[in-house]
Amino acid sequence: MAAFAEHPSTDAYYVTTPIYYVNDRPHLGHAYTTVAGDVLTRWHRQRGEDVWYLTGTDEHGQKILRTAEAHGVTPQEWCDRLVEEAWKPLWQHLEIANDDFVRTTQARHTDRVQEFVQDLYDKGEIYRGSYTGPYCVGCEEYKLPGELLPGAGEDEKLCPVHKRPVEWLEEENYFFKLSAYGPKLLEFYAANPGFIQPAAARNEVLRFVEQDLKDLSISRSTFDWGVPLPWDDKHVLYVWVDALQNYITAAGYGADPERFARLWPASVHLVGKDILRFHAVIWPAMLMAAGLPLPKRVVANGWLMVGGEKMSKSNLTGIAPTDLTSHFGVDAYRYYFLRAIPFGTDGSFSWEDFTARYTSELANDFGNLASRAAAMVGKYYDGVLPAAAAHGEAEQAVADALVRAAEEADRRIGEELDFAGGIAAIFEFIKTVNGYLTAQEPWKVARSTTEDDRARLATVLYTAAEALRATAVLLNPVMPAAAAELWDSLGAEAALGPLADQRIATVADWGRLPAGALVTKGDILFPRLEEKTAS
Ligand code: MSP
Repeated sequence: MAAFAEHPSTDAYYVTTPIYYVNDRPHLGHAYTTVAGDVLTRWHRQRGEDVWYLTGTDEHGQKILRTAEAHGVTPQEWCDRLVEEAWKPLWQHLEIANDDFVRTTQARHTDRVQEFVQDLYDKGEIYRGSYTGPYCVGCEEYKLPGELLPGAGEDEKLCPVHKRPVEWLEEENYFFKLSAYGPKLLEFYAANPGFIQPAAARNEVLRFVEQDLKDLSISRSTFDWGVPLPWDDKHVLYVWVDALQNYITAAGYGADPERFARLWPASVHLVGKDILRFHAVIWPAMLMAAGLPLPKRVVANGWLMVGGEKMSKSNLTGIAPTDLTSHFGVDAYRYYFLRAIPFGTDGSFSWEDFTARYTSELANDFGNLASRAAAMVGKYYDGVLPAAAAHGEAEQAVADALVRAAEEADRRIGEELDFAGGIAAIFEFIKTVNGYLTAQEPWKVARSTTEDDRARLATVLYTAAEALRATAVLLNPVMPAAAAELWDSLGAEAALGPLADQRIATVADWGRLPAGALVTKGDILFPRLEEKTAS
């Protein structure tokens, strides 16, 4: 098993989101994972790494087919429409910087999927059999009888996720020998304790695999919206087996060996906790069967809840991200969900909480600091940043706080995917800088004309501007538009180059922003919400 336990080194930091079902439009829950992945990958780009960020859409299966039929269009037409009108525009709107967008109906995917399953078939990993069991079309998953909830009638049973009746399927189809992989999976989890995160998710998977795994039904013959099995075209591949392979087909598997070697194995699969078993059990087993390396980490996030239930379109509780961005703006949106909900746990969205954080953290703590500092450099130095005349204890305390914040944010966001903790560390630094300004009172010092006080004023304003320089770099992955605005207002690009080229490794090197930088006031980063609504 050593071949699976050791990951061959790969050049790229390759991150994936789940590929989303296009039966409906995206809601906050979908955007949550995609924004998290975007912040993670932007962070790693700022470390100077070779990064690849993949998202896409899952377009086969019964759920999509039934939706298309209900709308009187072909499933392909339906998918094309939703992808172009809803999904891609949303990611653009939210400033998601994905490197690729895979659709499971693309030939670059379906051709490779057929080769992959043919290979498993040839290796004797797939056999023909029959299966009867409860199936949830919402989940596109056979359910275990023990996990069902009681329904209205005596015979009715409900899916625990969708709270809708399951269907009993009885099918003659093909099976993947998943049951053979239990011991190998357990061995792999033991050798790679960081493979499934967080710990609660890992424990859940361990408990599941420690029971006997059942073989997996991987084909359907009652409908044809899927990838045909190459050896029996009366069957299409079960949508999940097709979908999971997006992570390799989009990375060049079977088509571009060089690219595939660079990208695979993936560094992180981001998944919602409801699809953890697919990623931490079925997918690794399929890869083992194919003789391919396993992803390095599968990280499960919690759900956004509404009234104690998972937010979902099928429960009619899905909120469109644009309903929030039109009020709070895109940057604040990206910030809020990652800051307010510890990654990995469930969380509820509330308009009041968002408003409170917007006002106190973004508008007051961060936005005001930026505009106050720029305004004072404008007023007292005609916008030309003065050199610090001295670097005393108070300034050193700010520089030290920056080192701590940068290290902590790098560890938490870049390594632990603890976005809330990492962002909190950056905002702790902002608090320190605000405290420094309050204590130094530059607006009072400016009233004095003594030489000492002129020097003091220069030192204080330089310190504030330099602290903001670092803040722009640290917040760029989270709030790219506000960070760019700040970078611009500090006149930093002329001396330091584009914001995107700034590196985390040097962000805490004190004194990078040169004296003489042309500081301008710029737009208010986070305008008062009332003004926004009125406009
Ligand atoms: N198509 C499959 C994934 C295939 S990946 C090879 C799928 N699609 S989905 O559109 O139903 O869900 C995609 C992701 O959105 C899942 O990770 C799911 O957990 C997430 N979310 C859907 N509703 C959510 C919330 N209310 N909150 C957070 N995430 C949620 O499953």
